[in-house]
Amino acid sequence: MDRIRIVGGERLSGAIPISGAKNATLPLMIASLLTEDTLILDNVPHLADVGQLQRILGNHGVDVMIAGKRPGEDPNHGRTLHISAKNIVDTTAPYELVSRMRASFWVLAPLLARMGVAKVSMPGGCAIGTRPVDLLIMALDKLGAAIEIEGGYVIARARQGLRGGEIEFPKVTVGGTHTAVMAAALARGTTVIENAAREPEISDVADCLNKMGAKISGAGTSRIVIEGVPKLHGARHAVLPDRIETGTYAFAVAMTGGDVLLANARPELLQAALDVLAQTGTTVTPTNEGVRITRNDAQLSPVDVTTAPFPGFPTDLQAQLMALMTRAKGTSHITEAIFENRFMHVQELARLGANIQLDGQTATIEGVKHLKGAPVMATDLRASVSLVIAALAAEGETEVNRVYHLDRGFERLEDKLSACGAAIERISD
Ligand code: EPZ
Repeated sequence: MDRIRIVGGERLSGAIPISGAKNATLPLMIASLLTEDTLILDNVPHLADVGQLQRILGNHGVDVMIAGKRPGEDPNHGRTLHISAKNIVDTTAPYELVSRMRASFWVLAPLLARMGVAKVSMPGGCAIGTRPVDLLIMALDKLGAAIEIEGGYVIARARQGLRGGEIEFPKVTVGGTHTAVMAAALARGTTVIENAAREPEISDVADCLNKMGAKISGAGTSRIVIEGVPKLHGARHAVLPDRIETGTYAFAVAMTGGDVLLANARPELLQAALDVLAQTGTTVTPTNEGVRITRNDAQLSPVDVTTAPFPGFPTDLQAQLMALMTRAKGTSHITEAIFENRFMHVQELARLGANIQLDGQTATIEGVKHLKGAPVMATDLRASVSLVIAALAAEGETEVNRVYHLDRGFERLEDKLSACGAAIERISD
């Protein structure tokens, strides 16, 4: 199993290219199930989760062709996927596949909408909490699906097709919103989604579906209206830049000090996080090419932050912010309001010398002068990268084990950081 070794203390300077967003790529790939034509996706990041979803889609009969790089092409440009769900050969997504990646549960809606039936394993728990799927099922029920839960599987049927309906989410849910939008795209009549998630990835998927012939308006607001159409066709769409990757590297630069251009980043996708970064005393400058992050040797100021759905501070950056605040001058408070158990990084950060007290959903972080390198264990994707951020500023050597968590969501992390001067390397056994 690969490990990452980091020797802390180097400032970061240079440029880091931001890849296409994982959390847009996954639902976009899943949306290919809605049409028998080919969907072409550009700017797709090279991630373990993309490969895993390719296998899951393959099980339904979907062909995914990945265009190779040509000589002279920039290795930082994402890949192009040609996805064809011409013949769906199987409408079941088995436990062995779904349990490895929660988002694969989302195949339920497009399979049901196009084929009239789908059987998908419940995803089960994961490292960041219980993460139920009741609201996804509720959305499909409102669109006329008959739903049974049997033997750990959700079986959804709509032999006569889905019909438009009113869906009001009691809680903002990204997966629930993707599910409702994809199902409603092929339903008869109009669907209105209230309290929809406003995450940029929802708008990106809706843009792509509209290119495929769907009639979706209001994506990016909390009220989405969808006029169902009988069929969707092929399209070509470029995945938007990854706001969580952007925020992660921005926090890394704040941690080490330095001056880095996050190329292709779009600041409006993570304004709340960049505002928090500015409060810490880091300079954030939007430029024509992306966002520039600079920090001199002044100490970081502490902050009080609560995670929230977009446009609030993202839960997917909570661990990274906590790593940064371990070195602030004073006391910070970070409250996790989306997932009940997303604090796996706390114990590992403590191994590096961080002083963090957990009380329910709130972490109190007393900044320390020095962190010290140690062996640590990656637990989930964002927790792992928070350990990398801490290690970049720790004295001596840190070894991050179970790197496959990082590979799920960060493309060429060690290359991007070492190109900016970090002492970081991957060790393969
Ligand atoms: C998406 O997960 C993201 N995943 C997560 O990214 C992200 O943390 C999360 O949204 C919140 O922003 C992808 O986009 C692939 P939710 P999702 O449904 O859709 C509760 C990462 O690190 N809920 O918005 O699964 C749920 O428990 C990850 O890249 C229900 O109660 O999250 C949570 O408290 C991990 N019932 C809240 O809603 C349901 O049926 C928000 O979850 C569904 C959700």
